[in-house]
Amino acid sequence: MKKADKYKELFNKEYLMGPNSVRLLEEMLEKYPLERGTRVLDLGCGKGLTSLFLAKEADVNVFAADLWISATENNIHFNEWQVSEKIIPIHADANDLPFAEEYFDAIVSIDSFHYVATQPYFFEQKILPLLKTSGVAIIAMPGLKKEIHGNEPEVILEWLDGEESEYDLFHSREWWLNHIGQSDKFEVVMNFDLESFDVAWNDWFLSKHEFALHDEKFFAKGIGQYLSIVGLVIRKV
Ligand SMILES: C[S@@+](CC[C@H](N)C(=O)[O-])C[C@H]1O[C@@H](n2cnc3c(N)ncnc32)[C@H](O)[C@@H]1O
Repeated sequence: MKKADKYKELFNKEYLMGPNSVRLLEEMLEKYPLERGTRVLDLGCGKGLTSLFLAKEADVNVFAADLWISATENNIHFNEWQVSEKIIPIHADANDLPFAEEYFDAIVSIDSFHYVATQPYFFEQKILPLLKTSGVAIIAMPGLKKEIHGNEPEVILEWLDGEESEYDLFHSREWWLNHIGQSDKFEVVMNFDLESFDVAWNDWFLSKHEFALHDEKFFAKGIGQYLSIVGLVIRKV
């Protein structure tokens, strides 16, 4: 049994906001485990499911930051789940994070990095300074198997058109690696497409959230063949 299964009763339309972030996080932590007791920023934590998993399963201290979901709402969840000792909820914009430099051992961002990081130098300017030396960014986000911008099938545009054209945020792993670039300040220690793609999307469809039903309809039309979940682990040197 996967650790994520312990949280199954929370995989519903009240908490899920896309492909199941707990499944994606579990795979990332299997591949790159965090040290117990360290300080972690959960960036774009949504309704806090990934923060819960980090606190309970990785036993780390979490700052749970999100823009669309308020700190007050997430604090209610953390109290209910009895993890408020280990998670500090924060309402913040990733473009202007209210933390000291070199504060975090790790910054985890599951299904949210693509909303903020397509702008040039975002990683180097906004994320890297917050990490301690040897700290890591652990990122998993929906993307493309390969770049098809300019040559995309109509069904992909139709799928995302209703969602303020989120298509511009979808990119391949190669695109992300090139976009983040190379520097003597960090190294990409892992990059891969996640194996939990199917189970994560399937949990989302099962939630019957209205956006999930929309996504499911387009998966039935074949969009899944173009998509991946991009995984990156980047260490500050
Ligand atoms: C699809 S939701 C995923 C939430 C959560 N990680 C999960 O998977 O359940 C994307 C999240 O990115 C967050 N987000 C988008 N832009 C942001 C920004 N500029 N700063 C912080 N968070 C942001 C939103 O608030 C939202 O909760």
